[in-house]
Amino acid sequence: VNSRTPLIAGNWKMNLDHLQAVAFVQKLHWTLKDAKHEDGTVEVAIFPPFTDLRSVQTLIDADKIPFAFGAQDLSQHDSGAYTGEISGAFLAKLDASYVIIGHSERREYHAESDEIVAAKTKAAITHGLVPVICVGETAEDLEKFGASAVPAGQLETALQGLDAKADIVIAYEPVWAIGSGQAATPQQAQDVCAVLRGVIAKVLGDEAAARTRILYGGSVKSANIAGFMREPDVDGALVGGASLVVDEFAAIVRYQK
Ligand code: G3P
Repeated sequence: VNSRTPLIAGNWKMNLDHLQAVAFVQKLHWTLKDAKHEDGTVEVAIFPPFTDLRSVQTLIDADKIPFAFGAQDLSQHDSGAYTGEISGAFLAKLDASYVIIGHSERREYHAESDEIVAAKTKAAITHGLVPVICVGETAEDLEKFGASAVPAGQLETALQGLDAKADIVIAYEPVWAIGSGQAATPQQAQDVCAVLRGVIAKVLGDEAAARTRILYGGSVKSANIAGFMREPDVDGALVGGASLVVDEFAAIVRYQK
């Protein structure tokens, strides 16, 4: 037993426009009313596209909906001539709590290196956002190096130079499990998450390692969430496809029932 509050996070990726987002959040709130997250036992966070954030913020604020929200990426720069980029300052001004950094789709399609991920992590913290730092191995990495070497190396670089007191979240997402329907087993997730906790201890110290939440992501659904949540080093889930269906995402949040 530890004191880490489980976090169930929905990464919508490039899905749901701002009107669909508002309808989704309202419906999710009503579906989850009286569920465990209402008393803070499980934290719920959603990560809509940038263009939805203002609408989601307005709704959450007006109706006092107990969901956190964040963006799926941010710029490593604070402001200036960076066409198309979004600063952490803008996200903070919108009351975003979190920002996903280094998702495998950013690493793959936008050539985000471990160094860029580290710079974005620092930018998030500078603006008071909690970075959700994503790490994970491809199928090829898994074959060549085993499961934990690549994610451990990615995390070690991302954490360099951070304050030991920094509030961060880690998401272990094996690339082969993302959107494939082939989730890791709870034991596989636990093994890598334990290694990642060791990396946090090495770079930021034992207190940070004990406090930091590590999520599993990759084909999480209501039928397999409970198995992951039983593992001692898995503190929640970063859910993609299954976070786009209200009843399915609600069932994941209610994994204990
Ligand atoms: O960030 C979440 C994600 O990459 C996992 O996607 O669709 O396999 O749940 P999915």
